[in-house]
Amino acid sequence: MINLSVEIAGIKFKNPVMVASGCYGFGREFSNFYDLNLLGAIMVKGLTLEPRIGNPPPRIAETPAGMLNSVGLQNPGVEGFIKNELPWLKQYDVPVIANINGHSYEEFAEITDRLAGVSGISALEVNISCPNVKNGGMFFGTDPVMAGEVVKRVRAKTDLPLIVKLSPNVTDIAEIAKAVEAAGADAVSLINTVLAMAIDIKTRRPALSNVVGGLSGPAVKPLAVRMVWQVAQAVSVPIIGMGGIAKAEDAIEFFLAGANAVAIGAANLSNPMVAVEVIDGLKMWLEQEKIEDIQHLVGGVII
Ligand SMILES: Cc1cc2nc3c(=O)[nH]c(=O)nc-3n(C[C@H](O)[C@H](O)[C@H](O)COP(=O)(O)O)c2cc1C
Repeated sequence: MINLSVEIAGIKFKNPVMVASGCYGFGREFSNFYDLNLLGAIMVKGLTLEPRIGNPPPRIAETPAGMLNSVGLQNPGVEGFIKNELPWLKQYDVPVIANINGHSYEEFAEITDRLAGVSGISALEVNISCPNVKNGGMFFGTDPVMAGEVVKRVRAKTDLPLIVKLSPNVTDIAEIAKAVEAAGADAVSLINTVLAMAIDIKTRRPALSNVVGGLSGPAVKPLAVRMVWQVAQAVSVPIIGMGGIAKAEDAIEFFLAGANAVAIGAANLSNPMVAVEVIDGLKMWLEQEKIEDIQHLVGGVII
């Protein structure tokens, strides 16, 4: 018998494979392909206080071994989520993790307030890599003091477990991870997309209307594995690793680097079955290797 289950921040997950925010909508489209009960957890599309239509197209571009996106947090707003998406998701026996975004500390606090006490949400994923308008366009997730302050404001508004999503666009991600742990994060997830740009040489225009966007997919996997490994040395809270996972072997690298669970993002867009394939692949690999519990892999890299 192989044990894939994992407990993170007091939540029991039947397996450690989640679907990453922004690459799975609210799950409806994927329910045509498989039973969502198979998943470890669903991290829903990033929510904001008000509904957003996002950036104008083009806002997706293919790159070698990856993709750029500048969707710009298109979402129905927190109330739209609570009214129209959460009731549908509640039919499944899968933890729903609400990804929250704000342009100011106050907005983070307010959106948390709206979600606190709403049944059907297992945890919040606090996305601290969106631009902070009030502080001149800096990013919350690139400054340890600001990152810690967001977590404190959110912590003050809810008892829900807090997973803080870290930005890779920093020199020292371990420093940010330590700051959010000290401020009350129950877990960290990483990585968000890597700031990037592509140019169409015929038109000489950027591939994205927003000029720059976030790179994800296989191209970022080694970067993500390195960052998970660094964060695992620095904090004692659990880690949810993501970035370029498209098969079980990719996920295993993350566990060995120190992740307790993984999430799959962009790969869902090209292969809607990827999450169940990774879950099955992990089981098969553990059986082959005669490893009874997936958590025995965590941090197992030999250096
Ligand atoms: C189209 C798209 C939209 C995304 N939207 C969000 C979002 O709303 N909130 C968030 O925290 N991350 C968002 N992400 C980042 C992913 O959740 C993930 O962290 C990142 O893409 C790395 O994983 P991957 O290489 O498996 O995609 C988005 C990624 C993509 C490709």
